[in-house]
Amino acid sequence: MHHPKVTVVGSANVDLVIRAERMPNKGETLIGEAFDIFTGGKGFNQATAAARLGAEVTFIGRIGEDAFGEMLQTAMESEQIDTRFVKTDADNGTGIATIVVEPDGDNSIIVVPRANMCITPTDTDAAGDSIANADVLLLQLETPIDASQRAAEIARENGTIVLLDPAPARQLPVDLLKKIDILTPNASEATVLSGQEFTTSEQRTAAAKTLQKQINQDGLSSVVLTLGEQGVLLCTPTETEHIPAIPVDVIDTTGAGDAFSGALATALANGNNITESVKYATAAGAAACTVLGATPSMPTDKKIKAIHK
Ligand code: RIB
Repeated sequence: MHHPKVTVVGSANVDLVIRAERMPNKGETLIGEAFDIFTGGKGFNQATAAARLGAEVTFIGRIGEDAFGEMLQTAMESEQIDTRFVKTDADNGTGIATIVVEPDGDNSIIVVPRANMCITPTDTDAAGDSIANADVLLLQLETPIDASQRAAEIARENGTIVLLDPAPARQLPVDLLKKIDILTPNASEATVLSGQEFTTSEQRTAAAKTLQKQINQDGLSSVVLTLGEQGVLLCTPTETEHIPAIPVDVIDTTGAGDAFSGALATALANGNNITESVKYATAAGAAACTVLGATPSMPTDKKIKAIHK
């Protein structure tokens, strides 16, 4: 039986989460309603999603030599993630995120990456076998581009699918773009990467096609444009398909994109085609919106299947 393998190069943060009636205005002090500390970071959340869905997961990252780093190390071990390539940085603290969640579940996040920004191409080289042997390499943009680019090179040389979640958005070097098999931007990330604003469905299809051409190297690369309540636009070299969102009672949208990417990677690693994998990932993203916190909301297969009929 094929055992899906996913390797993640990415961030691990501790999230300081405040629930409040609304965001404060400039110069205003607000009294919040609740406070929680969760593990998070787009990389670790996605690694957790893949692990909970049955993938063998290797994580390449950096934490600080502090209590937050210990919290993440413990969490990685309890998710049965391979931590051989997680380094502890003596000079930089563990990455943190301050998150405000409003009553409708929308969130605002500021990340201070700290140790995450010290991952190097040498770190990814050291994990070369794990990247080469994986079915899918999962990347985001909260860690240095050169390390991700080296990982993508190793993946390309060895037939590992490269999936990049371009969050938070920034311009990407052509050398990295050309190594991506599947790009999963949300609307604002797609605008930054394509240089195209879009409001109508024709405009968003045009933006997805522009991105698909940017990354396309061998006629196989696809863009999966995530549109929240409006579902997902899947743009492959041969077709463009809209996959509707699944309505749920939203508690907190933090981490929904990470559940999506982790589930998409695992479904592809299991040998599913891209359309089936995107449908599964859409259900994973919806499930994540029903739970407070990022890592805590990464769903199980059972929870996804209850939504994905
Ligand atoms: O995508 C959600 C994540 O973004 C949070 O866990 C936070 O740490 C930031 O990385």
